[in-house]
Amino acid sequence: MLPTKMTEALNNQFNNELQAAHAYKAMATYFSDKGYQGFANFYLVQSKEEDFHAMKFYHFLVTMGEKPVIQGLLEPKSVFENALDVVKQSLEQEKEVTRDIYSLVTLAEELKEHSTKAFLDWFIKEQIEEEDAFRTIIVKLSGIQEGGEYFLKMDEDFSQRTME
Ligand SMILES: [Fe+2]
Ligand SMILES: [Fe+2]
Repeated sequence: MLPTKMTEALNNQFNNELQAAHAYKAMATYFSDKGYQGFANFYLVQSKEEDFHAMKFYHFLVTMGEKPVIQGLLEPKSVFENALDVVKQSLEQEKEVTRDIYSLVTLAEELKEHSTKAFLDWFIKEQIEEEDAFRTIIVKLSGIQEGGEYFLKMDEDFSQRTME
C-alpha cells in the first residue's frame, strides 16, 4: 500500500502519460495528412513509448497494492503551423512532464516513500533523453526548408524509427 497522496499523484501521472500518447498520435495525423509518413511514423512510435510509460505507472501501482484509475482523455491539438511548430510543442509537452516527475519525486521524499523514489529514477533519465531528442530535431529543422531536400531526408530517416 502507498500513502493516499502518493497513490493519487502516481495515478495522475499514469493518466498524463496516456494523454501524452494521445497528443502524439494527433501530431502524427498532422504529418500523415501532409504526406510526410516518416515524421508520422516518428510520432506514432513516440506515442507507443508514452503508452509504455503509462503502463510502467500502472504496473507499479498494482505491485504496491493500489488500483490504477483511468480518467478521461482531453481532445489533443492536431492543427499546427508547420513541422517546426509541432516539434517545439512536443518539447514544451516534455518539459511539463519533467516538472510533473520532479513533483512526484519531491512528494515521495516528503512522504519518505523510498520505493516510489527508486521507481521514479528511470523517468528522470528518460526525460533527459526525451528533451534532448526534441531539442536536436528543433535545431535541425530550424536550419532547413520544410519539404526541401534535407527535410525529405529527415522524413526518410524517421520512417526507420522503431520502438527501443
Ligand atoms: Fe512519458
Ligand atoms: Fe515523453
